[in-house]
Amino acid sequence: MSGDRPRVWVSQPLFDDIVGQLAAHCDVNAATAVRQYDAAAIAAALRGADGALVTLNERIGADELAGAPRLRAVANVGVGYNNLDIAALDARGVIATNTPDVLTETTADLGFALLMAAARRITESERWLREGRWGQWSFSTMLGADIHGSTLGILGMGRIGQGIARRGHHGFGMDVLYHNRSRLPAGVERETGARCVDFDALLARADHLVLVLPYSQASHHIIDAAALAKMKPTATLVNIARGGLVDELALADALANGRLAAAGLDVYEGEPDVRPELLALRNVVLTPHIGSASLATRRAMVQLAVDNLLAALGFGPQAGHPPTPVTARTTAKAATADITGAVKTANGKR
Ligand code: DGY
Repeated sequence: MSGDRPRVWVSQPLFDDIVGQLAAHCDVNAATAVRQYDAAAIAAALRGADGALVTLNERIGADELAGAPRLRAVANVGVGYNNLDIAALDARGVIATNTPDVLTETTADLGFALLMAAARRITESERWLREGRWGQWSFSTMLGADIHGSTLGILGMGRIGQGIARRGHHGFGMDVLYHNRSRLPAGVERETGARCVDFDALLARADHLVLVLPYSQASHHIIDAAALAKMKPTATLVNIARGGLVDELALADALANGRLAAAGLDVYEGEPDVRPELLALRNVVLTPHIGSASLATRRAMVQLAVDNLLAALGFGPQAGHPPTPVTARTTAKAATADITGAVKTANGKR
């Protein structure tokens, strides 16, 4: 440890070879095992730190920051940063960054995989087969919903939403509808084959609805019992954004009572805990928040977070200009944000 080198906390084991780049300029205190932190443990880790590299598990707000006067930068490994209280970070002049773009296609892939698995009952079929229940081929076994030629609804048309639209339009000949805070430029609509509709029309017309919008107080439980009641009973709902967008009890009730055909969920309100009401259902595909979990993409995310942190602390080719700061992006790109979901952004708007 040398006195004038910045001290950096890395909250979870990531890729040693990439995180190791920090050691060229900083003294690094890196977790060696996956762990859960409570607020006191985060506050303790931040005390004396100049920078932090954290994941969506670590919530950082005013309380955690109170004893961290040296902290200058928090690099989040993830595009979503609803774990960070941006207003509190801003108030203390701490730069926050995230990892957009590098995970767009991988996350869109997972969204589509969940859609297909739920609509065509893939995991349900596999469980049934493994349980030895396949007596003979039958015409009516595991009838599901078509994907090709159906209507794809996308709520939140940022980068990942557009990736899903492209897959649906170009790959499966789907009629693509979207709803977003603002309408996309005509060129993007043409290229993604997507048409903008209002929220109620999206709910009513979608055969498959994918949620990719930011989570915030304003979008909390945007899919509640009333919204579910507007959807087709034959529809599929997919959530790859944040669990808090969906009233999970209302969803479980709709799935259990034939008011919605199927769902594919990668994110949960209380994750890693998943509600027993969802676990008990056959017609929901559940994955453990793996949207961006390809090896190449996870490495790219960690590399971008390291680049951000070094730049924010004044090192490397982009010294002073982290490639993907959250506050500036949120302010400038509010209309096209993805799963970013800040608690509150610099300008106080989502
Ligand atoms: C993100 O980046 O926000 C994802 O949810 C984590 O992979």
